[in-house]
Amino acid sequence: MNKKIVILPGDGIGLEITQWGKKVLQAIAEKFNHSFEFEQALIGHSAIEATGNPLPDETLVACKNADAVMLGAVGHPMYDNDPSLKVRPEQGLLKIRKELGLYANIRPVKIFDELIGASSLKPEILRGADILFFRELTGGIYFGTPSERRDDGHTAVSTMVYSKSEVERIARMAFEAARKRKKILHSIDKANVLEVSRLWREVVQQLSKEYSDVTVVHQFIDNAAMQMIRDPKQFDVVVTGNMFGDILTDEASQISGSLGLLPSASIGDKVGIFEPVHGSAPDIAGKGVANPLATILSAALLLDIGFEMKKESQAVINAVDMVLKNGYRTGEIANAETPKEMILGTDGIGAQVLKELLKILKLKKNS
Ligand code: IPM
Ligand code: MG
Repeated sequence: MNKKIVILPGDGIGLEITQWGKKVLQAIAEKFNHSFEFEQALIGHSAIEATGNPLPDETLVACKNADAVMLGAVGHPMYDNDPSLKVRPEQGLLKIRKELGLYANIRPVKIFDELIGASSLKPEILRGADILFFRELTGGIYFGTPSERRDDGHTAVSTMVYSKSEVERIARMAFEAARKRKKILHSIDKANVLEVSRLWREVVQQLSKEYSDVTVVHQFIDNAAMQMIRDPKQFDVVVTGNMFGDILTDEASQISGSLGLLPSASIGDKVGIFEPVHGSAPDIAGKGVANPLATILSAALLLDIGFEMKKESQAVINAVDMVLKNGYRTGEIANAETPKEMILGTDGIGAQVLKELLKILKLKKNS
């Protein structure tokens, strides 16, 4: 198949990690006789520096004309330390999500057995945990209006808005996934306080009539945040709004061992964006120690969800698994108690994945 992929490295460690996502995709293309054409474009702080705009028009046009987008990370400490700045890197990310109609952010969280020791949670709590998150991505408090300062800047307003149709389309996607998995769906809201959550719950309840084979559990966000680390195995498919999903999935990263491992797929109308859940990690940018695995696993999601290339995607996941089995780690997932671990940098880990991938593909060809 011929496919066009836009790479948006973004900021911080973005360039280092997306390079490895690209190399993995190139290896896949070569072995499976696909033709992937790559184009690189600017987003975030690096785009502001170059053009004054966190999402330049050329970037948006390139993404709209692509078959898939691979993104690194967006953000820079300069803005975090100065809330008064009006043009901000994250605006680029929010705008592209909205423009591409990416209402569903899918974040699979699974523990790699080899990394059980790297999490701050107890092994017996983690073993067997496997959660698929559906985070609504183009609505809620991230996009509601008004969003403004009032009262000479002394008061600020952000608004959480959801329409029935916005809730229904993400909930439907989650129900469909639940139906194919363990037939249990957790819907997370704050319906004891927020009107917008009461609408959310109402829509999910109504929809559940069409999915009578799926058990729905409604949980309040505060309780869910606690349950997530108390007993993550109670969850299978989770659906929630934009902000609650943002927070819960960072928390849930501890279930996979590290935030450095969590991939995500943002899908909706047509072109999807595939990106790691972690941020731009400015503290380690340029040092060659960033973990490229979340980006490589996002490349696997790109192949699977974006291009329906299941075999190709599985080969990438298996290669990552082998690298971890072989004891290779980046610093943040190292565990002092596991004697056989070898710590590598970004390029070292990336090269190991490529090596394992080529081994797997060779075996496939000969079999
Ligand atoms: C994420 C990130 C973004 C978000 C930021 C960078 C705007 O935290 O993708 O989870 O809040 O959605
Ligand atoms: Mg986040």
